[in-house]
Amino acid sequence: MKQQTITSIQAKKGKEPIVMITAYDALFAKLFAPHVDIILVGDSLNMVFAGRPDTLSASMDQMIYHTQAVCAGAPHSFILFDMPYGSYVDKEKALKNAIKAYKQTCADAVKLEGGAEKASIIAHLTQNGIAVCGHIGLMPQHVRGAGGYKVVKDKQKLLDDAKALEDAGVFALILEGVKADIAADVTASVDVPVIGIGAGKDVDGQVLVWSDMLGFFTDFQPKFVRRYLNGADLAQEALKQYAQDVRTKRFPSEDESY
Ligand code: KIV
Repeated sequence: MKQQTITSIQAKKGKEPIVMITAYDALFAKLFAPHVDIILVGDSLNMVFAGRPDTLSASMDQMIYHTQAVCAGAPHSFILFDMPYGSYVDKEKALKNAIKAYKQTCADAVKLEGGAEKASIIAHLTQNGIAVCGHIGLMPQHVRGAGGYKVVKDKQKLLDDAKALEDAGVFALILEGVKADIAADVTASVDVPVIGIGAGKDVDGQVLVWSDMLGFFTDFQPKFVRRYLNGADLAQEALKQYAQDVRTKRFPSEDESY
């Protein structure tokens, strides 16, 4: 049985912050599962895992493959499937792909980026039994069209988008790259939980990309990321030691041999 459902997640609004993290494979999903409410198989995997410059080339097959791995590692976690760029351009395509995600993985819900302009597509999914999490504010799938990753400051548009998505039936919203005071107002304006990333503390929960918060990604550190581990440094140290042990024949020992 799943430890969280959309009902238990919604019941946390205003009471208990929701904890979300990304994962792309079984090993890390299993490690994260006891500590978080939601595991997001984000299309950020296209950058973190596949080494691409942005999320835009992620495909449905890629998202399904990684979600299956996460499901295997964390079968009791609430798992959110990120719909990749181009997979929800119209109602029919969105429903076909969301059904594919439901049929081929254990995902509990799908996430898609977009505000009021995507409301009719989201309504089509929710009316067909798909649980949808919206994603507004800074939308990484719009990076090329927007000319970069930019903090969003248009408060009225964010309020309108949040309301339109709530009316379309989303069970939750992700709010990314928004000034903290505006994020607080957006959060107060809807009944569904608002989970922030770079949106300050006055939201209903937080999400971070695992490789950012564990310090494995070190090319740059966005202002909103807190590193809870110096993963890259620790891994480099361990690898240096291993290489030295192999080269000096200190590994394996007798105890490590058959
Ligand atoms: O793809 C992802 O990891 C995301 C988070 C940044 C919210 O969408």
